[in-house]
Amino acid sequence: MARASRAQKDRSSEALRSLAGLAFRRGRIRRSLQEVLRRAVQTGELAMGARVPSSRVLAAQLGVSRGVVTDTYDQLASEGYLRVTPRSAPTVAIVQRVAGAEREVTRPRWRFDFVATTPDLSLFPRRRWTRALERALRTAPDEALDYTDHRGLPELRTALTGYLVRVRAVRADPGRLVIVQGFTQGIDLACRALRDRGARTIAIESPSLPPVWESIRATGLRVVGCAVDGEGLRVDRLVALHAGAVVVTPSHQFPTGAVMSPSRRAALLEWAAGRDAFVIEDDYDAEFRFDRRPVGALQGLDPARVIHIGTASKTLAPGVRLGWMSVPADLFDPIVAAKGSADSGSPALDQLALAQLLVDGEYERHVARMRHTYRARRDRLVRAIAARLPEATVEGAAAGMHILLPLDATSDDVAISRAAAERGIRLQALSPMYLGRSKRRGLLLGYGRLGEDSIGPAVSALARVLQSGR
Ligand SMILES: Cc1ncc(COP(=O)(O)O)c(C=O)c1O
Repeated sequence: MARASRAQKDRSSEALRSLAGLAFRRGRIRRSLQEVLRRAVQTGELAMGARVPSSRVLAAQLGVSRGVVTDTYDQLASEGYLRVTPRSAPTVAIVQRVAGAEREVTRPRWRFDFVATTPDLSLFPRRRWTRALERALRTAPDEALDYTDHRGLPELRTALTGYLVRVRAVRADPGRLVIVQGFTQGIDLACRALRDRGARTIAIESPSLPPVWESIRATGLRVVGCAVDGEGLRVDRLVALHAGAVVVTPSHQFPTGAVMSPSRRAALLEWAAGRDAFVIEDDYDAEFRFDRRPVGALQGLDPARVIHIGTASKTLAPGVRLGWMSVPADLFDPIVAAKGSADSGSPALDQLALAQLLVDGEYERHVARMRHTYRARRDRLVRAIAARLPEATVEGAAAGMHILLPLDATSDDVAISRAAAERGIRLQALSPMYLGRSKRRGLLLGYGRLGEDSIGPAVSALARVLQSGR
């Protein structure tokens, strides 16, 4: 065993002396002493190899009975924190320390938060969710609390089917729906099933969200980028990529905001059928289309080729961690099996609460209210940009909860986002969202987190950052 240095010994005796000053709670002396000593070993306050006082000495120091100390030493020895040898004082065993584990968790506070990927959390329908959850708890049969069908609870699969058919034109079937923990788990399960079926490469729109690339890579698959233009994915470029599947955001391309044109949709499905490949449709925020009805999901055109994945992360909140996937027959069993081994199914009470909101029509009413709110913010943002950054153009304003502010090719969007962060403004740069060398520059300006009144001041602050960089 490594010998304790003099400094470590000094630190250890200091730590032990400080024990003497501890006030142990009545009736909990044994437990308190165990906790304090265990923690001192874990954090390194008691150095490896350091001798701890004999039970007699420590009992006298602490003013407790000797039995309390011997019990404590025995317990910690049985857990591996102390080494006890007959007729000598126990020593501290070797315990791995974790650097940084004690760091305090803090949430940065932004003066202006233009984050593009999250909704307004302050507008989460807390009261309605509480009521739905309460009702679920009161009325759920006991079996709902058991390990259940890995696809999810039938109540939610049935309620979602009605919604998806009506609102998203998905060809949904409660039997073919799998409840997942958001798009993130959906893509993971889909990639596992595709990998086991022989796929090696997954194509994804470039630009797209980098964490999604990481989810795909984590399953052992290669990720390649496919260009996007104003009509969505450049399907003509897809052919050369030899991918087993492609991930797309056809209703509202993230982050450019393009809507996939009908001819591209047809070409994409033709590509998939011709290669025996699949399309993974990330339908993350289609409900928030402002100037006309949302474009129906691609899956409605070919449910045998398209895996449709929806999420409550934009409509409710990311913390809800609920999503759903409509799965083609060929991939269904492996995806359900992968869900089973991932977590044995999603949390039952949350599923029941969401089912309740859907059945009562509360979910749709909430989405409608949020659409109204985001439309007003979008209008305010576009007007503020026109007034304060008159040379700027905006893209992708027709839907979602962010717009794209393109910059010229010589601008360093990453440096601008850093300069903005130094002034308390959070925004995401466009160029890191490209796979490959060809990149456009720009800034994503989300309005999910910016109340209407702060949009004007936020754009003024951004204009100052942009002007100071010239
Ligand atoms: C385009 C896009 N797809 C997928 C996700 C992941 O969503 P989820 O929270 O459902 O895992 C996000 C989250 O920000 C997103 O912006």
